[in-house]
Amino acid sequence: MITTDLNLVIETLKKDDVVAIPTETVYGLAGNAFKDSSVEKIFQLKERPAFNPLIVHIAKPELLDQVATSIPPNAQLLADAFWPGPLTLVLDKKDQILDRVTAGKSTVAVRVPNHPLTLKLLQELEFPLAAPSANPFGSISPTSAAHVDAYFNERLSLILDGGPCRNGLESTIIGFEDNRPLLYRHGALAINDIEKVVGKVEINTKNDQSPIAPGMLSRHYAPKTSTILSKNPVEALETFSNKKIGLLSLQKIELSNIEIYQEILSTDGNLKEAAKNLYAALHRLDQMNLDLIIVPYFPDTGLGKTINDRLQRAIQK
Ligand code: TXA
Ligand code: MG
Repeated sequence: MITTDLNLVIETLKKDDVVAIPTETVYGLAGNAFKDSSVEKIFQLKERPAFNPLIVHIAKPELLDQVATSIPPNAQLLADAFWPGPLTLVLDKKDQILDRVTAGKSTVAVRVPNHPLTLKLLQELEFPLAAPSANPFGSISPTSAAHVDAYFNERLSLILDGGPCRNGLESTIIGFEDNRPLLYRHGALAINDIEKVVGKVEINTKNDQSPIAPGMLSRHYAPKTSTILSKNPVEALETFSNKKIGLLSLQKIELSNIEIYQEILSTDGNLKEAAKNLYAALHRLDQMNLDLIIVPYFPDTGLGKTINDRLQRAIQK
């Protein structure tokens, strides 16, 4: 059921049940991070492998002590600069953090989400919320309550409706080696903004053999429809002209004498707006029974890096 009744959501979470919550990035599938049975339900619903740890969501930066220990100075700088916001920090975990949350790792991923309804919810709870994105493992993340409902319908008792997600891409994940920041996952916070606060950040996102963050797994964030990324979309369209094709692009691509369905993410080429619209457009295209989705590469700057990363993971088999 889709609801805006915060009290109902609080009662449900206190009974160790799982609910979907809005965040500024994507919707999450949330449960009491301190209760093993809640966390187990999240894994079951999402059909997520147990080796893939969850992000713990806290109400305010001051609560970081509840989940993490020996916080590096650069982590504190980033928390001060960007929380609440789309940044997840991977830190040494406190003993009481459940192994099921961290998949047995000695580190925990944590963030303060920036959504008014979910911040209010977290403030009223006496426990943090463990929450992965509210999609079945490997598929496109949801950026609206309707997306979550389409994935889980009656298997999920409650979806807290906070409207469409403002950022529309998952949080950026940063870990540390001593005090040295490492990028584990591109996300809604552009890497150049992070570097303004802590200097150069090493990119450590390609590690399929032993993924540090399984968001690194090659095939992830994937539509069911075959999707290709192309440097020359017009040529690709001609090659596949006998197929039913959808085109997803930053701005409109003028096509003479080819009639196809186009999703345009930002008429004036704004990458922030494109990021916000990306997953909803992919969800729509994926429901059209197309033979193929063609996507031109995005500019490799700012959030364009995150968008290209997600698209690359959406196409790999
Ligand atoms: O924006 C977001 O981050 C959303 C919203 C709901 O907060 N959540 C999200 O969760 O994207 P999920 O589970 O889909 O992705 C979490 C990522 C995974 O790639 C996981 O491997 C990584 O965080 N992660 C969690 N704990 C980790 C740890 N201890 N070390 C390294 N990576 C970790
Ligand atoms: Mg996810």
